[in-house]
Amino acid sequence: MAKENPLSGYGMHADLVRQNLLMVKSGAGEVRLSGIYLAAGPDCNFNCRGCFLHTPGAQNGLRLTLEEMRAAVDFARSRGGEVVVFAGKGEPVMDPSLPLILEHITEIGMRSVVFTNGTLITKKWSELLLTAGSVIAKRNSMNPVVQNDLAGVDGADAVMWQGVNHLLAARDRLTQRGVRVGDVGFDSYISRKNANDLPEVLRFCRRNAIIPYFEAFIELGQNPEMVSHMALSQAELTQLFLTLQKIDIDEFEIETKLVSGMRTYGQPPCDKWGHMVSVTAEGRVQACICGFEATYGSIHENSGLSVKENLDLVVNAANPAVAEKMRCSRCSNRINLERLVI
Ligand SMILES: C[S@@+](CC[C@H](N)C(=O)[O-])C[C@H]1O[C@@H](n2cnc3c(N)ncnc32)[C@H](O)[C@@H]1O
Ligand code: SF4
Ligand code: SF4
Repeated sequence: MAKENPLSGYGMHADLVRQNLLMVKSGAGEVRLSGIYLAAGPDCNFNCRGCFLHTPGAQNGLRLTLEEMRAAVDFARSRGGEVVVFAGKGEPVMDPSLPLILEHITEIGMRSVVFTNGTLITKKWSELLLTAGSVIAKRNSMNPVVQNDLAGVDGADAVMWQGVNHLLAARDRLTQRGVRVGDVGFDSYISRKNANDLPEVLRFCRRNAIIPYFEAFIELGQNPEMVSHMALSQAELTQLFLTLQKIDIDEFEIETKLVSGMRTYGQPPCDKWGHMVSVTAEGRVQACICGFEATYGSIHENSGLSVKENLDLVVNAANPAVAEKMRCSRCSNRINLERLVI
């Protein structure tokens, strides 16, 4: 059975980006999408260091309703989208709309990618999430002390492992039954608190057919002191990626390609600003869930229009101003293989 790449919406759409930019500049036609990011949450049972959930003004209690999510998913589908990624601030599995929206996504032939801290993943949730698409579970360190510290909750590590064990067991069980399942990934931000722990996380991933998704620390309104305590410099990030690449080659015979401009280990330079849109918990429509500067408008832009009509309007390719907005805010450092000076 062919395996899908759960992160295929992230950075493998250079042609689509080029087409969209040309189309927007010429004012002819519609922007086509590979998928959409939807905020699910906003509640969370963790208190992760550096998470944008804890930035000023972020905890406003706002959430997308099921109907708003459904309209946004339908809009993405109408523009060619194939994947719906649940990220944003909060824990998606705590959002009561999640099972129903996953059902809708499956019904209309799309696949989901759910980022989760894994703490609430049961046998039933594992089967639901993996039949709808892929699951990217949080794993910042194999050291429970570091993991608990980064999650900001005592005992986090043990509960996270329970969720992962359910996911891996469900993946095997469903695959044996011939059911199409998505992938399991491990996500971690890369910070000064866990950079040295990521080689062990990578080894666990490779031994268990888990996709590693380690991304540079995102600066999104945290206080500067926090950022300087957490974010690696460009040279340090580059060095870490080289270390991880060496482990992949020496120990697993996996050739992970590195190119300057990457911010996530193993993923090409991020261009999702050019082929995805994001809808935040507040209903803002953005080029990227991190890209506050590239806000197109709101799902409630025009009170006389439905959410889908508003989405059509604000992501309207005929509006030349969108071309200028189709840029990301460069949320984090990226590697540079040409200038590796520590
Ligand atoms: C905000 S969380 C929401 C989903 C879920 N609660 C989780 O943690 O996976 C979405 C993603 O953002 C990541 N994240 C949070 N703060 C970050 C930061 N400052 N830099 C990079 N990634 C961050 C998390 O690790 C997670 O992969
Ligand atoms: S679990 Fe996710 S949303 Fe919750 S605090 Fe951690 S990174 Fe933020
Ligand atoms: S802000 Fe830019 S680099 Fe960062 S995740 Fe968004 S599109 Fe990618």
